[in-house]
Amino acid sequence: MSTKIIAKDVGKVYDTPHGPMTALHHFDLEVQEGEFVCIVGPSGCGKSTFLRILAGLEKQSSGEVTILPGDNPGKPLNNVVFQEYAIFPWKTVIDNVAFGLQMRGISKKERLDIAKRWLERVGLGRFAHYYPHQISGGMKQRVSIARALANDPEVLLMDEPLGALDAQTRAVLQEELLRIWEETHKTVVYITHSIDESVLMGDRVVLMTAHPGTNKAMFDVDIPRPRTLAVQGSRTFRELTLSIWESLKDEVMQAMAVQQ
Ligand SMILES: Nc1ncnc2c1ncn2[C@@H]1O[C@H](COP(=O)(O)OP(=O)(O)OP(=O)(O)O)[C@@H](O)[C@H]1O
Ligand SMILES: [Mg+2]
Repeated sequence: MSTKIIAKDVGKVYDTPHGPMTALHHFDLEVQEGEFVCIVGPSGCGKSTFLRILAGLEKQSSGEVTILPGDNPGKPLNNVVFQEYAIFPWKTVIDNVAFGLQMRGISKKERLDIAKRWLERVGLGRFAHYYPHQISGGMKQRVSIARALANDPEVLLMDEPLGALDAQTRAVLQEELLRIWEETHKTVVYITHSIDESVLMGDRVVLMTAHPGTNKAMFDVDIPRPRTLAVQGSRTFRELTLSIWESLKDEVMQAMAVQQ
């Protein structure tokens, strides 16, 4: 396995009306090609900030971030599924999913075929010609997931992609994402609030401290793949989620104390 992402000593200071605010602080992360890494940390600890820096949408104030390109000419280096679904309201569902492919000059027939296939995988085949205002929040989030997957980037950066979904849809899509990952073995950085989700999906769980975020702990998820929701009943799963919670609890309390 080769290293795909290197983030070293990354810091981010935002200018705010109250002066400079450190959002991220000496944060390190290394991700191997084909690895599924989950990042968990209390609200406001800088997870989305870090993902935006990885995606090149924001510049770090200190440290270095590199995504090493592979041998995939024409394919995007990374694609982000944002915490707040970001889709074009004036485009239909299928045109939203096909948008990145259109930008890459892929023929109309091919891009609509690809988009249709991904829409079916996320359970939206019937809604291809709807507009975003005609579908629910959870469905919009599925559109942004389908769009990122259709683009087939080298690295998939996902910021709480299932966060806005109801519990049942979330469970269905967790299994679907697991299946898709088994097929593609894409390098994924996946942010979630849910410890259960991080252990279900990830090869590794990286825990961040409360604001300003830095590395707190790291957990290897030694649960065999392919995985389904059934692994949540296993002893390894329960023990690991408990250990992560023990470590995260202090940080959550600290984050809540600061907000009061
Ligand atoms: N553009 C910005 N300007 C100023 N401050 C910002 C900006 N974006 C984020 N912040 C601040 O940086 C800190 C980290 O924010 P970030 O959105 O990265 O947290 P998060 O870990 O993703 O939180 P959540 O789990 O609630 O999504 C917060 O205190 C936030 O207020
Ligand atoms: Mg966030």
